[in-house]
Amino acid sequence: MIIKSSPSSGITGLVRQDLLDLVPYAVPHYPGFVKLDANENPYDFAPDVLAEIFRRVGGQTFGRYPDPLATDLRRALAGYTGLSVENILAGNGSDELILTLLLTFGGGGRVIITPPTFSMYQIHARIAGAVPVQVPRRRDFSLDMDALLREARVPDTRLVVVCSPNNPTGNTAAPGEVEALLEAAEGLVLLDEAYVEFAGESRVTLVKHNPRLVVVRTFSKAFGLAGLRVGYLAADPAVISVLLKVKQPFNLNAFSQLAAAAVLDNLPLFEERIKVITADREELIRGMRDLPGVEVFPSQANFVLFRTPLPAAAVYEGLLKHRVLIRNVEGPGIERCLRANVGTQAENRAFLKALAAVVA
Ligand SMILES: Cc1ncc(COP(=O)(O)O)c(C=O)c1O
Repeated sequence: MIIKSSPSSGITGLVRQDLLDLVPYAVPHYPGFVKLDANENPYDFAPDVLAEIFRRVGGQTFGRYPDPLATDLRRALAGYTGLSVENILAGNGSDELILTLLLTFGGGGRVIITPPTFSMYQIHARIAGAVPVQVPRRRDFSLDMDALLREARVPDTRLVVVCSPNNPTGNTAAPGEVEALLEAAEGLVLLDEAYVEFAGESRVTLVKHNPRLVVVRTFSKAFGLAGLRVGYLAADPAVISVLLKVKQPFNLNAFSQLAAAAVLDNLPLFEERIKVITADREELIRGMRDLPGVEVFPSQANFVLFRTPLPAAAVYEGLLKHRVLIRNVEGPGIERCLRANVGTQAENRAFLKALAAVVA
């Protein structure tokens, strides 16, 4: 670790240069706009479940620290995933768990990421003092398995990170790919299944027989709890016992633990909404494909990636003028691309109308 200590450079001289190079995460705030930029669940939280959460909260004393191991929630998650409670670690959003994993296993080693993908892997890897190594996806966004297997075998490779369905491209890893990586990897394989409920098929039970697999998931997307920050990971108990040394003791607050457990107790309600969102996604894709010049990529998640002939910034700004907020994700491999999540049907109609006007 290099710490610059020139007295003339003020406080920045106290900080590692690679941290100074990071750009703070910024969230645009446009109150009253159609908001399709953060892959959130567009529906109000089910009122019956909310009432139940408040009923359960009645018995809590918030003056006490929360259960550091979130035992009740982990028990419910064991049932939901088909794993045992020792396989589960709960966190303050999956972001926190990804950082904890990188701090624990990544520091000083190589971390393989597969862009275009979720930007936080690279940022967390750098914060953890790991060296991020990029293995870009192919033009069709599939994993470049030859290159990945080669890189996964390089000594000092601590983690290979695969997101499936991948944010922002929406595609899933092909059958057998995660297994092939597990076979080859020197270190751990992190599979991020943040959007798996919209895709249907999960690989979480592979954890039972693969002590090097870590699957991370969230309540922020399908279950509409982004504001309460609940994520979890599934891994071999040996991996979890090391993560517990690094995790903040009271990382997940009492209210969020309780709310997430209430979601799992009312799963059919949430599954109905997931079905509506996936059906609406297909309808949205059809509507977007009807627009001249708009190239829409298939998606297994709750968002859609698309390309237009215009600069992505112009499309983004044009939509803002129609009071619609989406995400400009332009970058290598996704030139002139933007991402919009599936909203309510009214929001989807407003987005389609605005997009038609912008690309016309
Ligand atoms: C692929 C992926 N993983 C993880 C996260 C983080 O989710 P959270 O920290 O809300 O659980 C996101 C959020 O957008 C994501 O897209």
